[in-house]
Amino acid sequence: MKHHRLGSLLCLVSTLALGQACLGASDPTAAKPSPATHGEHATKAKSASTPWWQQAVIYEIYPRSFQDSNGDGIGDLRGVTQRLDYLKELGVDALWLTPFFPSPNADFGYDVSDYTGVSPEYGTLADWDELVREADKRGIRLLVDLVLNHSSSEHPWFKESRSSKDNPKRDWYVWRDGGPDGKAPTNWTSIFGGSAWKKDELTGQYYYHIFLPEQPDLNWKNPGLRQAMYDVARFWLKRGASGFRLDATPYIAEDESFQQDPDPAGGRPVWLKPYNSGLPGTNEVLRELRQVVDSFPGHPVMLGESTTATIEDLDAVYGKNNDEVHLPMNFLFGGLTRLDAASFKKQADDAQTKLGGKTPVFFFSSHDRWRQWSTFGDGRNNDQIAKLTAALTLCQRGAILLYYGEEIGMGNMSDALLKQFPVGPKRPRADDRDRNRTPMHWTGEPGAGFSTGEPWLPVQAEARERNVARQKDEKDSILSWYRSLLQLRRVEPAFRNGAYLPLETGNPNVYAFCRTSTEGKNAVVLLSTSASPEQVQLTGLPGGTTGLDKVILSSPATELPKGLSFTVAPYGVVIASLPAR
Ligand code: GLC
Repeated sequence: MKHHRLGSLLCLVSTLALGQACLGASDPTAAKPSPATHGEHATKAKSASTPWWQQAVIYEIYPRSFQDSNGDGIGDLRGVTQRLDYLKELGVDALWLTPFFPSPNADFGYDVSDYTGVSPEYGTLADWDELVREADKRGIRLLVDLVLNHSSSEHPWFKESRSSKDNPKRDWYVWRDGGPDGKAPTNWTSIFGGSAWKKDELTGQYYYHIFLPEQPDLNWKNPGLRQAMYDVARFWLKRGASGFRLDATPYIAEDESFQQDPDPAGGRPVWLKPYNSGLPGTNEVLRELRQVVDSFPGHPVMLGESTTATIEDLDAVYGKNNDEVHLPMNFLFGGLTRLDAASFKKQADDAQTKLGGKTPVFFFSSHDRWRQWSTFGDGRNNDQIAKLTAALTLCQRGAILLYYGEEIGMGNMSDALLKQFPVGPKRPRADDRDRNRTPMHWTGEPGAGFSTGEPWLPVQAEARERNVARQKDEKDSILSWYRSLLQLRRVEPAFRNGAYLPLETGNPNVYAFCRTSTEGKNAVVLLSTSASPEQVQLTGLPGGTTGLDKVILSSPATELPKGLSFTVAPYGVVIASLPAR
């Protein structure tokens, strides 16, 4: 890890001395030549000199809520295929589909009972194949959500494992005797609440589950389990996936000493206890999985749900030799919930300067987290703030994750409304996170163009006004703004592959940075998190810059500011080019 920090320090020193950033033009994790090309993605692989994921925009789809193709009220794979033209027009590079595998749905697909199948709710393997073909025609890649840490308690592996203490699959899960007092082996708690152990009456032993009891942890120390899971990865790569979103990576390895937690209520949060996360065995598994993934053509990628407490821990997830996770999600940035330029600057500068130039990952919303329109909105300027947070992620160097509906400013459904909605066959369990999983707003009609049937979760009333059909031709809509930002990432050299240079504004309410390109076409981005006009004095620009050249994109619409001292509008975004060098 040390050499990364030293690397970035050296880079920063030379950056300051030369008045130019050296970060991130290329990614050390990409150094490996790709193997001989074959299969579906051969063309892409041959033409791709830089791995596609280094500046990819990856769009997260919660298939249950995106598009229903058969009127049963539940979104499905065919529905995703139907919407590919929209996604192409939006300009995304890849789709991350949350689990669509057979599952008893204790945790909506994150309890997998067959890793290589498609749940009938979502379609068939043939539908997956068609999605791959159609996405490929449009240059869109697909990432499968690989749930590594646990399976469903209904998975045949677990059924075998629990059947007897000497079953060959016993060791594929984590079994322990209870304590002498008949209690659970340790006092550890599950991330979802309650004990992390469940007693199985069949053999009298306890099994470990860091999530729900219906999600028993897999034992990655077992070589048979490892190979079986690597085969799962091979299965999807052969079947056209361009990589994986890796679920819950911090919990892959267990601390075998199984010590009691002396202070269960204190210290780090339950999802980051020293004994339940980031343990050394995790790195070995991720390295092995990386080798499997790297043996396929077309630069398939591993996008990790890699929650960490510090930037140094995040750096370690890439691997000491950049041989583990290509794209660990940055929860230090993504976990921010206050609209505060100084915190955004701190976390983005860290991600850009303290990871040794490796590809950072930016996002705010997801199927687990509140939608950013609701997180950051002040109740009056939410749409403008949505544009601000879009620019905050999409102007960064690195890979960006969008969550379906973010691009039209979808917000959360209120808890009160959601509570009125019954649990039933289509919604087997109520979950707080359902408020950020409501159906996509395609149109203003009943059902919002999502389904012709009764949707599994209610369509929000605001869909009548806030929908794709309405926003697609409106010049100032949030959707048009997202399209413009995505376009910027494709056509402007500074945003296509430019490095990142931190800037100072002399004002904690305005965060600014520069993207510098080797072609000398540099650009600055200014983002104000204040409800009032704010005065800035820009410093740190490449040497000799006395003013901006042209406004490329701004919201609210802004004239070219004069000099380097000027006023930024409330919640304003200014993206401007610098004079050519
Ligand atoms: C990840 C998923 C989340 C799920 C959990 C358990 O955090 O993103 O939705 O509940 O893993 O699988």
